[in-house]
Order: sequence, then structure tokens, then C-alpha cells
Amino acid sequence: MRINVLKDYETLSRSAADILLSTVKENPKAAIIIATGSTPTLTYQLWVRDLLAQNIPTDNLTIIKLDEWGGLPMDHPSTCETYIRTYIFDPLKLREDQFISFQSQPEVPEQECLRIAQEIQRLRSIDICALGIGKNGHLGFNEPSDTWSTVPFVATLTKESLGHDMLQGDSSKVTFGITLGLNTIRQSKHILVLANGTAKTDIVNTALRGPVTPRCPASILQELPNMTLLLDQEASAKL
Ligand code: F6R
Repeated sequence: MRINVLKDYETLSRSAADILLSTVKENPKAAIIIATGSTPTLTYQLWVRDLLAQNIPTDNLTIIKLDEWGGLPMDHPSTCETYIRTYIFDPLKLREDQFISFQSQPEVPEQECLRIAQEIQRLRSIDICALGIGKNGHLGFNEPSDTWSTVPFVATLTKESLGHDMLQGDSSKVTFGITLGLNTIRQSKHILVLANGTAKTDIVNTALRGPVTPRCPASILQELPNMTLLLDQEASAKL
């Protein structure tokens, strides 16, 4: 595992965008898991801007949505779907068949998990997985729990997660989370984790210095040799 502490959010985002850029340059057929939320937004903006400016082909990439707020309509402004379409899918003019994406209102959520698991199984590999860390230590919607998750699953969201900024104070329509499990995340050749700001100082410290336990899913990062963790100075302040 590699931990890099960068001066600030902008430097962290530049560094993360460079890693994503190299992944696509090395493998134009890369499959990439994408987390949403505030942390990676500038990273994706810089990455997409550079892909376009450098005319790097993106028509063979596969984008995989890490998780979704179950119960919201797909085109709701708070969904992970809307986020990915806004920052990545639309600007790169990707095709629908390049996007592996949980439905946010599936008839049978468990079947939706199976569908996504099967789509991922058909890929040759997952090249990189971009992750953020929840304030409660969640990875995707792998919430603190007594057991580790494995395959894609329907998650019961914690109060902390329902207070996520993405939902802008209205979690009334969110009835569950749907997320890739830790085995799919671990299967990625490279795991790129980003955390910035004082809101992440304590959880970064707990995840990296505390015991490896499903009570803090991000603690699994300690066991991932192929993980790069990029922190700004604020998030790393207690390490
Ligand atoms: C969102 C996701 C979440 C976020 C985490 C951090 O797709 O998977 O696990 O990565 O909640 O969110 P931000 O970056 O908004 O602090």
C-alpha cells in the first residue's frame, strides 16, 4: 500500500487524475469503478478534461458505478447515476454499453445485484477502482457491520450515510443502498482511495491505525497491497 500526502485538495486531485489518465493510456480497454461524492469531483473534471484535450480514445473503456441510492429516480439530481453522467459519461460521449450501472429503483434489488455481478464477471479484469471514504468508515455502501461483504448487495444505510451531502438534507425517498461488495473492490488491479479535509481526519486515522474490522470497512485498506491512498494535509493530520 502506498500513502501519499499532498499539500491540498487541488494537488491531490491532480495526482489522482494523473493516475486515472495513465490507466487509460496503458489500457484503452480499461474497466474503471467510479465512486461519487464530493471528494473525487475535481479529479474527474481534470481527468476528463485531459482525456479530451489529449485526444485519448475512450470508446473502449468500461465505467462501473460503485453504488447507488436505492429508491430515488435514476435522473434525480442526487443519484450517483446523475453524478457520473454529468462528470464523466456525457462529456466523454460514452455509449450505454460502456456503463455498468445499478438501477436505483429496481423491481427486485437482489436481482439487480446479480445482474451487476454477472456483467462484471464478463469483464476481463477491473483495472482501477476509485474510492472515497465515508465519515463512518464506509467504502461504497459497505457500511460498518459485524461481517465483511463480498458480492454486490443491498445495503441498509446508516443514519450517517443518510445524512450524506449528496442527498442535500432529503433522504426521505432513499430506502436502501445498492453497492459493489468488498470482493469486487479487492479484485481491481489498482485501488485508488482519496480523502481530503478535516471531516476525514479521524476516520483516516481509525482506518489506518486501528484494527482491521468490518466495524470500520475502510480498515480493509490496510490489507490491500495494490492500494494507493492520496490524502491532503488535513485528512492526514492525525497519522
Ligand atoms: C459514493 C460512495 C461513498 C463516498 C463516501 C465519501 O459513491 O461510494 O462511499 O465515497 O461517502 O463521500 P464524500 O466524497 O462526499 O465525502
